[in-house]
Amino acid sequence: MSTSTSDSQPKFVPKQALAIVKDKVGAYEQTGGIVNLQFAETCVNLSPPFTADAMIHDNACGSGHVSRQIVATSPPSGIRIKATDIDETFVDACQANAQASGWPVETAVMRSESLDFPDDYFTHSIMNIAIFMTANNGLDAAKEIYRTLKSGGTAVVNCWQSMAWLQPIREVHNATRPDHPWPLPVINWADGTQLRKVMEDAGFKSENIKATMSDAYATTTDLHDWAETTWAYLGGILGWQESDEEKWDEAVALLEQKLRDAPGFSVSESGEIRLTARQNIVVVTKSLITDIIPRISREPSVRMNKYRSCWVNPPAPDSSEEEERYRKFLRDVLDIDRTKIKPIETERKMADKNPVSER
Ligand SMILES: C[S@@+](CC[C@H](N)C(=O)[O-])C[C@H]1O[C@@H](n2cnc3c(N)ncnc32)[C@H](O)[C@@H]1O
Repeated sequence: MSTSTSDSQPKFVPKQALAIVKDKVGAYEQTGGIVNLQFAETCVNLSPPFTADAMIHDNACGSGHVSRQIVATSPPSGIRIKATDIDETFVDACQANAQASGWPVETAVMRSESLDFPDDYFTHSIMNIAIFMTANNGLDAAKEIYRTLKSGGTAVVNCWQSMAWLQPIREVHNATRPDHPWPLPVINWADGTQLRKVMEDAGFKSENIKATMSDAYATTTDLHDWAETTWAYLGGILGWQESDEEKWDEAVALLEQKLRDAPGFSVSESGEIRLTARQNIVVVTKSLITDIIPRISREPSVRMNKYRSCWVNPPAPDSSEEEERYRKFLRDVLDIDRTKIKPIETERKMADKNPVSER
């Protein structure tokens, strides 16, 4: 059996997987979604409080777990959430959830690597379990998080450290597709260094990054069913093969067995099965001054005096765009009263005459 893809090349999908993932959101919610909802709760709890003027990005929102957890904190009315994802089916699911429960959420289909929001827009930006799926090893999405975050705003971004079912899936892949062994990862997100690196490379200051981790659990009472849904959802991540349809039962049975043997597998007295997953998280604030200066002036020689005035290499008068950015910076970031902003030439002379100590 095959489905059409965006590049119009039919791709093979085993009939058993099709039957399960035709409800893609439902299959996700029953498997990895249970874990990602818990991870989302941790990310939301690590965010600064949501004040009434909060403008929050639920980036790569899926069905809206981050939005759901934000609303669960009973934030003040007035907060606004923009939930975006590359996958229209998930965006529609998020929209339906928002409507059903009255969340203050607006949704849009959007790639995290090229967000359709202005600079300095969000007070909070949360990307739960998605950055490692984005292009350029996460860097393009990290740059967009940085660009769209207000100075003083906070981003929370995470990735997997471990999940009890990953090694079993690799082993089933290798056993049932011996001609195509599971490739070694090009980038290793598991130890957390790549997560920190992309945030720093995107412009966040190392000293503003706090790294932490937390655990979550997938739970089920029917391991066979969980294994089959998980295989349908993740078994084709590197592409399905025609032989997968014939080997379906073998693969699911092997996955069930490997899961039982995996570190992180446990069964409670009541018979509930738990599979452990751990996330790496960074909580990072875009600082008020030092992060924004390089974007206003290419030569960040910033001088501040005790009155909190500031001169930022006043831009060349013939560059109206730069001049407007400079004025915006004075107004929006340093709260300098519009009426007190002097003509650019005067600012330049004052800076030259009054060289206060270099920061
Ligand atoms: C594991 S899910 C996590 C979803 C959601 N954040 C949650 O908490 O459940 C990853 C999500 O990232 C989305 N995604 C993957 N690549 C993306 C990209 N380049 N831009 C935007 N979203 C992307 C997927 O469509 C999927 O909904």
